[in-house]
Amino acid sequence: MKKKRVAVLISGRGSNMQALVAAAQAPRFPAEIVTVISNRPDAPGLTWAKRKKLSAIALDHKAYRSRQSFELDLQQALETANVDLVALAGFMRLMTPGFVELWRDRMINIHPSLLPSFKGLHTHEQALEAGVKIAGCTVHFVRPEMDAGPIIAQAAVPVLDRDTPATLAARILKAEHVVYPTALALVASGKARCVGEKVVIDQKINVKNVLHSTVC
Ligand code: GAR
Repeated sequence: MKKKRVAVLISGRGSNMQALVAAAQAPRFPAEIVTVISNRPDAPGLTWAKRKKLSAIALDHKAYRSRQSFELDLQQALETANVDLVALAGFMRLMTPGFVELWRDRMINIHPSLLPSFKGLHTHEQALEAGVKIAGCTVHFVRPEMDAGPIIAQAAVPVLDRDTPATLAARILKAEHVVYPTALALVASGKARCVGEKVVIDQKINVKNVLHSTVC
């Protein structure tokens, strides 16, 4: 099967982007990362991508008068790279409903909480404040509402009594690096599809393995 062409959109560090790039190096991975686009020219992830000789583009949102004009150039870059799927990886910019519709069921995002709990920013603080005993991360199809959309995959980690937002974030980030490539592979291979507003996984994956490998 032809590999799906994926653009990864970032705003900062880009560790999830690195996890996707690493996974996509496997010959049987059903997707290839054809371009990395950052809305911040100084994003460390962009520097990393350039060093790896990936196509790496900065589209500085501050240089645009409106969200729409930014998204016109973004769309142009995605079309130029002949992209099939968009993977948001720490891309901290809201998209207009029009742009989200253009990429309906072809754009995915990772969020560092077990959605629908703890949307938005400061998710780890929110989790600690709520006193939950299990936290985690979610990969979902993007919908116009922030941090919402059909859930493709989730991974859970324990919350420990001594956790700070930083220690919890680090534990969840490890899980993100496992679950995001897993979810991208499911979508790119056509094994995860939207049926209504839920995702159906055609072929059983060993969810236990994903969870066990990420709980630490
Ligand atoms: C990740 O934890 C990701 O889940 C989060 O930003 C971080 C980016 O890290 N995304 C969101 O909060 C989106 N709502 P990275 O740049 O090292 O991948």
